[in-house]
Amino acid sequence: MDIAAILDDIGAAMARATDRGRVATYIPQLARVDPARFGMAVALPDGRLFTTGDAAVPFSIQSISKVFTLALALGRMGDQIWARVGREPSGQAFNSILQLEHERGIPRNPFINAGAIVTTDAALAGHAPREFLGELLRFIRAAAGDDDIHINDRIAASEQATGDLNRALAYFMAAHGNMVNPVDMTLGAYFHQCAVDMTCVQLARAALFLTGAPGAPALVSAARRRRINAMMMLCGHYDASGDFAYRVGLPGKSGVGGGIMVVAPGRAGIAVWSPGLNAQGNSKLGTESVEMLARATGWSVF
Ligand code: DON
Repeated sequence: MDIAAILDDIGAAMARATDRGRVATYIPQLARVDPARFGMAVALPDGRLFTTGDAAVPFSIQSISKVFTLALALGRMGDQIWARVGREPSGQAFNSILQLEHERGIPRNPFINAGAIVTTDAALAGHAPREFLGELLRFIRAAAGDDDIHINDRIAASEQATGDLNRALAYFMAAHGNMVNPVDMTLGAYFHQCAVDMTCVQLARAALFLTGAPGAPALVSAARRRRINAMMMLCGHYDASGDFAYRVGLPGKSGVGGGIMVVAPGRAGIAVWSPGLNAQGNSKLGTESVEMLARATGWSVF
């Protein structure tokens, strides 16, 4: 299979696209990103790498960080984490507060904002946010095999400045006894974890630990890897998770920065970045390009 040629075709098709979606504006620093950007990378467990477009340009990974935090929270708490956060798709926007009232402050899953605030709270486990963020960066760098991965302080400050909805979610959960650390401490850690910058190349390589392929980094057990992939498949794209599973057939996690990290189990780590979002807050061209890749490679798990 000629992955380089497939990526060239995808890059050319995306360069022609006229409707590129809309860049997120609710975090001012994200609104400044050029919507014409497009990059994609495919990393194979044997070290081969294929790219197109802006695959070496760093962008804000945003909610993609929720995958790495879930891995850390599972490492700290094991299955006890599931007493504090559910494993079901929410069918709601990423920042929705609706279900929390009916469901006693237990978020539906670890990939909506409320659920990720809980996993951050669990991963903190009494440590200072700085220690948690150091551990998170060490985990991501080990997964990517690259130490040049950092938190973008300007994005983090922009998140803090506009984070009232996340504060509302966190205090609501605290009122239901579902926060262990002081709310401000957990939120500070959450805002910074969302502000990690990575390139498509780094993110594609970082996805390899979830492929379980021989040669890929073994950062979590096989059982845990399967469970994280299951959560990505069912909940990784908010209320468009079913659509992504239908069109792509691979576990993926999106962020409002326009990135998507995708796992082709046993085969490859994939990352795409196009800042314009669709109505559900997922990268519009990112989704279309991963759909093209899955179709051309036959990598759907189904
Ligand atoms: O919590 C927020 O608003 C952002 N920092 C992260 C949200 C995000 O990426 C949602 N994704 N599609």
